[in-house]
Formats: sequence, structure tokens, C-alpha cells
Amino acid sequence: MKVHDILIVGAGLAGMRAAVAAQAHRAHLDVALLSKVHPVRSHSVAAQGGINAAVGENDSWEAHAFDTTKGGLYLGDQDAIEAMCREAPGDILELERMGVIFSRDERGRIAQRPFGGAGFPRTCYAADRTGHAILHAMYEQLLKRQIFVYEEWYVTSLIVEDGICRGVVAWDLLHGGLHAVGAKAVILATGGSGRVFLTSTNAVINTGDGMALAYRAGAPLEDMEFVQFHPTTLKDTGILITEGARGEGGYLLNTLGERFMKAYAPEQMELATRSTVALAIGQEIAEGRGVEGCVLLDLRHLGRARILERLPQIRELSLEFAGVDPIESPIPVRPGAHYQMGGVRTNQWGETEIAGLYAAGECACVSVHGANRLGGNSLLETIVFGRRAGQRASDNVSGVPPRAVSDAALRADEAWIKRFMENHGPERAWQLREELGKVTSLNLGIFRTQKSMTEAGEKVRALKARAAHVLLQDRGKIFNSDLIQALELQSLLEIAETIVAGALAREESRGAHYRSDFPRRDDANWLKHTLVRRTPEGPALSYAPVTITRFPPK
Ligand code: FUM
Repeated sequence: MKVHDILIVGAGLAGMRAAVAAQAHRAHLDVALLSKVHPVRSHSVAAQGGINAAVGENDSWEAHAFDTTKGGLYLGDQDAIEAMCREAPGDILELERMGVIFSRDERGRIAQRPFGGAGFPRTCYAADRTGHAILHAMYEQLLKRQIFVYEEWYVTSLIVEDGICRGVVAWDLLHGGLHAVGAKAVILATGGSGRVFLTSTNAVINTGDGMALAYRAGAPLEDMEFVQFHPTTLKDTGILITEGARGEGGYLLNTLGERFMKAYAPEQMELATRSTVALAIGQEIAEGRGVEGCVLLDLRHLGRARILERLPQIRELSLEFAGVDPIESPIPVRPGAHYQMGGVRTNQWGETEIAGLYAAGECACVSVHGANRLGGNSLLETIVFGRRAGQRASDNVSGVPPRAVSDAALRADEAWIKRFMENHGPERAWQLREELGKVTSLNLGIFRTQKSMTEAGEKVRALKARAAHVLLQDRGKIFNSDLIQALELQSLLEIAETIVAGALAREESRGAHYRSDFPRRDDANWLKHTLVRRTPEGPALSYAPVTITRFPPK
């Protein structure tokens, strides 16, 4: 069996950043990446609006830290937030040196635009394709360093022996077959789980696999009830319509032609935090002031030249997927699942409770976003904490001798896959996935109640039982996407169960978790992190304190 020094699962921005940092830190290490898709097909490529850093004159990392803490309704750990905001400017300059083509201001410096909840125009961008620009530059770094990538491999489980993570078992999609891949350190960087919901900005690959792997291996997940709904996703498809559109001056209208945000956030208007804007849109639609299940995002006053320069992709997406040219007509938008604030619990260096196992990016909960992430802090998190996890893992494995790994996990997964291949149930994975998405979008979305979430929980449990028996029409080995969908479904259901458990227990409203039956924030009882662990009886909850350093909750 091949044993690497460091194996990173997921080749989006957090994963590639971790790989590049680990190798740059200690050049002699054998670092490899493993990903279910080619690296530049990772979902980071879809990030649009930008990446936050206090690089502007008159801005400061402390102000960035305050905005992040306040925007997260004080649930973020302030020591981690401080680290992220303090290190952000250095990381942006490093990205620029790697060749990221940031947009420029009239003085030739990296341009910055306003984003929601920020007290300063702090979001650096490359038009409305920022994720694309950074991902491709990072991929060049990977090639330059000749870091090996297991391309189109899907991890079925983590190998944990004597409480230490020693590698993974993974299915090679192209050739078929399971393999054990050993490592002295495994970094999970598998992204989010937006596809738990039907309406989502996330790619279909975002099925929470890394979180589910860690959860099954015994690591706790943190704050899973906090799922961010992006206020503006395109009608029908849920494709992201960047907050950058509002940052550039776009505004929201209801069916009466009113800029309704003045009733919800008269000062910040469309640039209030995401949870505020998403709730406002939800309320307008629920109270009959929507337009065919949406509201309208109006960019016309920005003018053709500015739209083409700053928001070219938004125009293309609107034209292609909604038949609307934003230069001439407003875009129909509605909220959709966008980002999981929770994830695998880690410290500031990506270390989890399981020795040898690290996590970074959206699949991790460091926690810097608290109850509501600020736009532009997600790309930043991938870069800062991907780098940190890579550096820490390389420090920890240096000088550690390789160790043989037993084949018990490989054998167990072979038996698991064999059972799937032999299923005769009538149901298909995609049908169950659609049922899951419908029930979560309806009952676990921007408005939640005990009744709606109990219904969601019952449905998820029933789906879990059915998911073990889904029928694979393809029983072959070569590129069996039927099998991968069945495995992804197991991850989605595992994650959905943790979201329901945390959300049902949290009897308050905070950020993205809005309960119509408990509409107030309750710091006295709920200023604490939810931890969820997997047990044979289902998710078991416990709680952990929030780290508060310089910003007392207000
Ligand atoms: O709206 C956006 O461009 C999304 C940015 C983000 O989620 O950070």
C-alpha cells in the first residue's frame, strides 16, 4: 500500500492551498491530493463576488474581525476570527504573487467592493469570477510543485487505528475498485453540503462527504444547524447571483416596485447581513409581495458598461438560465441554501479530535462564521485555514516513520460496496435525494418551527432506512456514477440528520437559524456551540463554550 506523508481529500481551494503550503513548508514531504473531481471542477470555481481582507487604506484587521464577529451574532470563536483577519492581507498579497488576476482600482491597486455586513469596502475581487481566478492560479502552483493528484477517486472511509487516522479507503472511479491509501496525516477539504437542500447554489458534488467521513469515524461536528441561505439565487435553478451585484449598487424590489429592504434594514438596505436579507425576501414572498415565488434584483441603473465590466458572468447566467438580460430587465431571485457554517470541529490549525486528522475550508468548523457568515469570508477561510492546516500537518509528520496499516477498513468497505451492488430494491438514489431536498427546503429552510423540523427529522430517518437498499442499475466497475450517487446519498442523509438534531434543540433565533416559535436571540441559554456525535441511537448532542476575546456580545 502506498503511504504518503500527507494526504489531502478534496482539491478545491482549501485542499490545494493546504497541499501547496505543506510542500512549501517542508519540501521533502510526500504530499498528495485525492478528489472525486478534477481539481478545477471543484466548487470553489463557482465563488463569484470576492475575498475579504483589510488591505485598504483606513481599514484594519480589527475592524474586519469586529464585522465578522458581529455578523456571526457572536457565535464565532474570536481567537480564530482574529487569526483569520490578521493574516488575510498577507495571504492576499501571496495570492497576487502566485498570479491571481485581481481587478484593479483607478490607482492600479487591488480593487475592493462593499459586501453585506462590512463596515468598509473590503472585498477584493476578479470581476464576478473570483473563485475561478484563484482556483486556476492555485492549480498552477500544484502543477509547478508536481504534487500528485488521485483524480476522480471517492473516499468511502477513514482508516482510524488506535485512535489515530492513518489513511483512507477510496474507490477509483475511472478503473473501478477500492484501495487503501495510507498517510501520516489526512486533511479533509471536501467543501460543503448544500445539496442536502433542493434549492441551492452548490454544485451537485457538494454532498457533505468529508463531514460524514469524520462523523462516522467518531469526530464531533459543530454548529450544524447554521445553514446559510444566500438571498439571491436565480429563479428555478438556484444559481448564485453574487452579493457583488448589490455591492455594485443593485437593489431589490417587490411586486409593488418597492425597495422593501427599507422596512427591514433602513440603514444597510440591500447590504445588510445575508440572514437579514434572506429573511426579508422570504417574508415578502410569504406575504404575497413576491413575483412568481421570487423578488426582483434590479441592476439596470448601473448601466451597460459597468455591468459588462464588473458583472459579466451574472449577465451571462441570467441570459442563459432565466432568459433575462439584466441590462434591460430585473433578475428574478430568491433565497437558496449556500453555505454550511458548521462542520468538523477543529482548532485554529485544522486539528480535529482524532489525531492525524485535520479539516479546512467549508467542511470544517474552526469556528469563524458563527451563526451567519459574511460574504467574502468563505474564500478567505479556504486560503488562511487551508494554509494553516497544511503547515501544521507538515510540522507534525516531519520525522515520523511510516507505519503499516491493516486492511480491516478496506475489507469492511468492500463488503459495503458489494451489498450495494447486489441491492434489488425498486428505488433509485436520485429519487431519494430529491425527496430529501424537498423536505429540507420546505421544513428546514429560512423559517423553522418545532413542527416543521420534527417532520423533516421523521422523513430523514425513513429515507435513511430506504437509502441502504437503493437499486444500482450500473453494476460495472468503470466510471460507475450510479454507485457514487448511492454513496453520496448516505453522506447527505447523515448530514441532514445532524442539522435537524441541532436545530430542533436550539430554542432561539440567531443568524441563519430562525425559529418562528422562538423568534428572539437568547444569549443567556444559547451562546454556545452545538456538538453532535454519531451513536448507534442517532445523533447525540453536547455543547461547548464560545471563545470571546475583545468583542463582548451585544
Ligand atoms: O455572493 C457571492 O458572491 C458569494 C460570496 C460568498 O459566499 O462569500
